[in-house]
Amino acid sequence: MSRPASRSQRSAGEGGQIAQWLPLRPDLAGRAAYGAPQLDVPVRLNTNENPYPPSPELIRAIADAVTGVAGALNRYPDRDAVALRTDLAAYLGHGLGWRQVWAANGSNEVIQQLLQAFGGPGRTAIGFEPSYGMHPLIARATATGWVSGARETDFGLDPGRTVRAIDDHRPDLVFLTSPNNPTGGALPLAVIEAVCDAAPGMVVVDEAYAEFARDGAPTALALLPRHPRLVVTRTMSKAFALAGARVGYLAADPAVIEALLLVRLPYHLSALTQAVARAALAHAAEPLATVQALRAERDRLVSWLRGRGLAVADSDANFVLFGEFGDAHAIWRALLERGVLVREAGPPGWLRVSAGTPAEMDAFRGALLPVLDAACPQARPVGRPARTEARP
Ligand SMILES: Cc1ncc(COP(=O)(O)O)c(C=O)c1O
Repeated sequence: MSRPASRSQRSAGEGGQIAQWLPLRPDLAGRAAYGAPQLDVPVRLNTNENPYPPSPELIRAIADAVTGVAGALNRYPDRDAVALRTDLAAYLGHGLGWRQVWAANGSNEVIQQLLQAFGGPGRTAIGFEPSYGMHPLIARATATGWVSGARETDFGLDPGRTVRAIDDHRPDLVFLTSPNNPTGGALPLAVIEAVCDAAPGMVVVDEAYAEFARDGAPTALALLPRHPRLVVTRTMSKAFALAGARVGYLAADPAVIEALLLVRLPYHLSALTQAVARAALAHAAEPLATVQALRAERDRLVSWLRGRGLAVADSDANFVLFGEFGDAHAIWRALLERGVLVREAGPPGWLRVSAGTPAEMDAFRGALLPVLDAACPQARPVGRPARTEARP
């Protein structure tokens, strides 16, 4: 089958070489741009989006909200986005007020602002990999050194080893991802607390997938009153089904947010974005109902994959990491040829698939079965790879 067309001819992340004649920063030379492939295939299960589009009612509310601000687009937006931050604080609960919440264009921008303010040349950040690949990329883009810490063989974090890595490297920022992407599991609060106690600088807990966690999984929001250097980042891209609007946010001590004002661009969050996000928050019950459906779909998927004899990581997110394949790329390609796009993510031999609609999950299962059974004899599960060790 021919390669499916890219959804964007100008899409970054296609692996293009940067022209040699450009006076690029030396530390960016040879680097590849981020990019999950954006391919036009029938079933896209590779970027952990919520597959349920807004309802006609929510579309109307968003259109009304945009109309409401359109007449004032000659003016700059509220650069402090106070109304949106107030709504986000109310959504988060935990006694938070707007001064403890900050918003930007996706949680990636929030993370960038954190690294601009607390990282930078001569400073370092640590993350425990495999984890969200943008943490090291944004660190590098802000000239922050990156330390790759290790996970256990079950992809969890051992508090003792994690604290030792922090003691060894004394990083200015620690990134914890809970639930972790791509492995799926949420961290116990005890691990986050141990890290907060040991870290000499900022501790960022990336909770992009918090709403999908299994019952009883904790949120680091509960720790904020005790740890003033703790930051919890969230996004409206996943549970809120609003990836296209680009809204991410964080909760932290107001002093942290004051520091971020030093690096944010003025008027960074457009009036349209603020209005759309507020409309979506006013209709939160609708996307959050899809979260329940996606959690159930995820749990079914975990059982089904295990039933096929595959290794499957426990998941608190809207995706599942499964393997282990001798040649995961061959499986990825065979699925793509059957119209299903998943993600090559995690340790070698593993693939990540997002939870989709029941029809999408049927398509995934229908595509994977023949791949496992016949088409790719190399698809036999093999032993688990050795874990990676911390390296600077
Ligand atoms: C762990 C994690 N954090 C942050 C993000 C970024 O989300 P956004 O910039 O859309 O808010 C993602 C996106 O996939 C993610 O997986």
